[in-house]
Amino acid sequence: MKALVVGKGGREHALVWKLAQSPRLERVFCAPGNAGTGVDGVNVPIDANDIDALVKFARRECIDLTVVGPEEPLARGIADAFQKEGLPIFGPTRQASQLESSKVFAKKVMRDADVPTAEFRVFDHPDPARLYVQTREYPVVVKADGLAAGKGVIVCSTTEEALAAIERIMVRDEFGRTAGRQIVIEKRLDGPELSIMALVAGRTIIPLAPTQDHKRALDGDAGPNTGGMGAYCPAPLGTPDLLAEIDAQALVPTVHTMKRRRMPFRGILYAGMIITNQGPRVLEFNCRLGDPETEPLLMRLRTDLFELLLATVEDRLGEFGEGNIEWDPRPAVCVVMCSGGYPGTFAKGKIVNGLAEAAKLPDVKIFHAGTRLDGELLLTDGGRVLAVTALGDTLALAKRNAYEAVKRIHFPGASYRSDIADRAIPPG
Ligand code: GLY
Repeated sequence: MKALVVGKGGREHALVWKLAQSPRLERVFCAPGNAGTGVDGVNVPIDANDIDALVKFARRECIDLTVVGPEEPLARGIADAFQKEGLPIFGPTRQASQLESSKVFAKKVMRDADVPTAEFRVFDHPDPARLYVQTREYPVVVKADGLAAGKGVIVCSTTEEALAAIERIMVRDEFGRTAGRQIVIEKRLDGPELSIMALVAGRTIIPLAPTQDHKRALDGDAGPNTGGMGAYCPAPLGTPDLLAEIDAQALVPTVHTMKRRRMPFRGILYAGMIITNQGPRVLEFNCRLGDPETEPLLMRLRTDLFELLLATVEDRLGEFGEGNIEWDPRPAVCVVMCSGGYPGTFAKGKIVNGLAEAAKLPDVKIFHAGTRLDGELLLTDGGRVLAVTALGDTLALAKRNAYEAVKRIHFPGASYRSDIADRAIPPG
């Protein structure tokens, strides 16, 4: 059988690597992929958003399962296009993926389903929004409705900042015309964050091991927001009691509400949670695996990923109960190495050295994100370059193993956080 992974980041490399371990798969393609997916699989030069070309390729190659990494092709309807052609695809339809592609839609579903989340208001014109922010207690969060490459969420500490955010999103269209047509203004919640990714098909919901991301660029959670600078799995914050509460209060009612709205959800439902003093609250939903959360998650997964994803697509997920998914008991830590300047402007094409040395270390896997090959040379090709991931008997040892590998890898301007997983490692 053959699989196709759509995307080109660290998450997609982890998917290709894990799928390629399935004895049922003879080949795993990745479109367009990176230098790492070209080693663990076979790259196909098709852009992740070129849905027509992807459908043609899947038909020609008789692909048995396509797995979509990023949100944009889902929001553009890649699952609908594949399903129309009878091609098996893992990922929600365009309508169902509005849970991620429209913040307004997601908040309305949460309100309908009684899912705990920050109180909010929706605006489709800047004037009432401007009046509203004069009456708020701060901090508040102003969010562009549509996808904005993770940048359309602005935390505001004062009325002036909120007015400026409304201007940027709704008047200057900084995040795109469609994305900024509506905004959500909500109370900013306080607490540690937790990523809960669940497999969903029909009535079956199987939460995967809890993970924690590090969104800020610099140590100590300082600096600007990024796509994610590192992650670890399992996150000790996700105790069985808390996970049961999140399942009952967030995942189950959302999946049922989507079904009632005739937009049944199938794929990964990723609840970005914040654990407040009043209990867990949903910050946002994503409709795909997180990046870099997927890298440590799949490093620990022992169950055949292809079987799991195929069962989801074929509505047989119930065959696996949560207890039948096998995990390596050891935790995993992932450290993202970035191009200097990320998440702002950065240069590409820097030569990466030391990878072979680092890859020899035990229990380490180096997932590529923004990389490409130029002959024999490995070059940087994006903001997030590598997701260096390691297992260890404890979180502290997994962290040590990951940083041992990071130390051996060099490229001009390389930057990374040095405190991934520290918040979960007991002192001493
Ligand atoms: N790491 C956050 C995300 O994938 O959305």
